[in-house]
Amino acid sequence: MKDLKIITPIKVATYNELDPQEQHLISLAREATHRSYAPYSHFNVGAAILLDNGEIITGSNQENAAFSSGTCAERSACFYAHARYPEAGFTAIAIAARDTTGEEVTQPISPCGSCRQSLLEYETLAGRDVKIYLAGSNGIYILPSVKSLLPLAFAEF
Ligand code: THU
Repeated sequence: MKDLKIITPIKVATYNELDPQEQHLISLAREATHRSYAPYSHFNVGAAILLDNGEIITGSNQENAAFSSGTCAERSACFYAHARYPEAGFTAIAIAARDTTGEEVTQPISPCGSCRQSLLEYETLAGRDVKIYLAGSNGIYILPSVKSLLPLAFAEF
């Protein structure tokens, strides 16, 4: 019998340590939190996806009185990105959130399981790693890929 270890490498950076393109993506995710529709949780999430055609698509969580009909920011962004530009590959995603105080979360949040599974599909389609930036007011977590957040993922192709 042998042990397998799964390691998720995470870099922690300050906003100022990032290059302007990375800062821009994070700023767009932060802005998108203001377009969230979250009258039930009052937790506002924004996501911004950079495509290999240079376009950036943003999304935010959209809640519904029938709770399970709502969707997270990451899925609203990734479904729209692929619906709008089906030929373009994803290259990076930034995620930001404000909590019920209206302030940015200090510790970054990370995508829920369903969003990880959805994002993985687009990473696989792109054929390259999709870098992930998780923004918090205390720092930005940078992960190398979606699969680093979803080890042993189910994939049919
Ligand atoms: N939410 C997101 O949009 N993304 C995440 O990564 C976690 C949670 C949303 C879902 C719901 O509208 C609210 O945040 C509270 O869970």
